[in-house]
Amino acid sequence: EQTYKNYLKLKKHLLKKGYFINIKSGFRTKEDSIDIYNSYLNKYGFKYAEEYVAKPGTSEHNIGIAFDFVISKDAKATKNDYKSEEYKYLENICYIYGFIIRYPKGKEKITGYNYEPWHLRYVGTDLAKYLKKTNLTLEEYYN
Ligand code: DAL
Ligand code: ZN
Repeated sequence: EQTYKNYLKLKKHLLKKGYFINIKSGFRTKEDSIDIYNSYLNKYGFKYAEEYVAKPGTSEHNIGIAFDFVISKDAKATKNDYKSEEYKYLENICYIYGFIIRYPKGKEKITGYNYEPWHLRYVGTDLAKYLKKTNLTLEEYYN
């Protein structure tokens, strides 16, 4: 509930700038995660599946605190452009609403997952602000 409420606030903020954010994949059941894991495994092999998909039951998507999004100036866009001004803007301000880019570039060994610029995790406003300031991942913060 907190995640969704804050997502709506973030969405409103972005709309004022003419940017549209939409959730592409939000809450997933463990069964959904099993299907995704298996389809990645079949399509791309074990290594790729392990690097991109959480073990079913351990995904942040399974407890509703994370979502994959699309942001664009086009309300109907289905893909991200990570070099766009709207993406960079979101990356910069999402902490205000308690969100972090959970699996950042350069921290793959620490998080255990590849860079996933499309995955936002809700951690609350205080922690999000702190993590942004210190450039820490959740793993580094908790260790
Ligand atoms: N893609 C992320 C790691 C997940 O499956 O939760
Ligand atoms: Zn995700």
